[in-house]
Amino acid sequence: MDRFILQMQPWFGEEEKQAIIDYLNEGGFMTEFKRTEKFEQMIAEYTGARHCIVVNNGTISLTLAAIALGIQHGDDVIVPNYSMIASPNSIKMIGANPVFVDVEPETLCLDAALVEKALTPATKAIMFVSANGRFPRTRFPHDGYERLARIAEHAGIPIIEDAAQSLGSYFPDGQHIGTKGAVGSFSFSAPKIISTGQGGCLITNNDEIAFNLRRLKDFGRSGGGNDIHDTIGYNFKFTELQACLGIEQMKKVPWRVKRKKEIAQRYLKNLAGLSGIKLFDHDFRWTTPWFIDSLCERRNELQEYLKKRNIGTRVMYPPIHRQKAYQLKGDHPVSENVGEKGLWLPSANQLADAEIDLICQNITAFYRGV
Ligand SMILES: Cc1ncc(COP(=O)(O)O)c(C=O)c1O
Repeated sequence: MDRFILQMQPWFGEEEKQAIIDYLNEGGFMTEFKRTEKFEQMIAEYTGARHCIVVNNGTISLTLAAIALGIQHGDDVIVPNYSMIASPNSIKMIGANPVFVDVEPETLCLDAALVEKALTPATKAIMFVSANGRFPRTRFPHDGYERLARIAEHAGIPIIEDAAQSLGSYFPDGQHIGTKGAVGSFSFSAPKIISTGQGGCLITNNDEIAFNLRRLKDFGRSGGGNDIHDTIGYNFKFTELQACLGIEQMKKVPWRVKRKKEIAQRYLKNLAGLSGIKLFDHDFRWTTPWFIDSLCERRNELQEYLKKRNIGTRVMYPPIHRQKAYQLKGDHPVSENVGEKGLWLPSANQLADAEIDLICQNITAFYRGV
């Protein structure tokens, strides 16, 4: 194979380039304005949310969501033990404590039965991470998320949806992921479904939360551009340059979502029945696989083997409680198993069918020893 196939790669085209040139030719201030508003509108429309507020990344978005929901220093927040470390770190930032709970084996989303057991009077929110665009359906096949919602409602606490990996993914009732919790958060970092380099956003149907989020990200200003501050706030704003990228990327979402599903289906077909590697399943009607995720035997050997053949992969997230940053006791067998065997295969939208076939041929050759 001529080119090294990266596990993931953002994709900016001529349209993004032209949008930035057009903006620069207009001589704007760069700071967020009309284009940012348009990007926000596009996301709100696409997800069906009433409000969208963009911020500078998908970690700070979670921190802002927690602040807007009244989470304080010392509060406990339930977080899945399988996620990007940004999920728990976002609340560590305000002195709250992530309480790690294991995930379901098929979906890698929070296991509702374990969440129920982990609740205490100190629990002030649940952070639901839709892992790779999925919703929970192992434990309670027909109403996985609703179980979580009922648990939260019963405890009188909100759900923050970390939907960083889930643009283009839906719950099985057709509602976009991120729209069921009090607030939903997305990331536009380089490897996401769409990218603005760095970037993130929050969606909510609640007018008051939206108002607070806008204030929080803009120094607590009482109105656009003024210097009157009724509350404490920060600077987590976006830029028009990023919005130029974001608008063009959003126009491409329908195609990207379709192609992501085709890519995953091709991998699944090619590798079906091969012992040694098991791809995670997807409900393709609703879920857009962001990354091709798998559990494999002899993971490190496979990774090396593929690398020598110009194929990049990435080890999936280790169980968070075992990370040096946390070092917590506890048994979380599902996320621990992912930590031992989880591997992401090349997943970029740019992948050609022939490349997917070649990757799968190499994986097959590795496990068959040919
Ligand atoms: C589940 C999850 N949450 C949060 C983040 C953090 O987003 P960002 O990199 O935009 O800060 C990521 C990014 O990879 C993620 O996958």
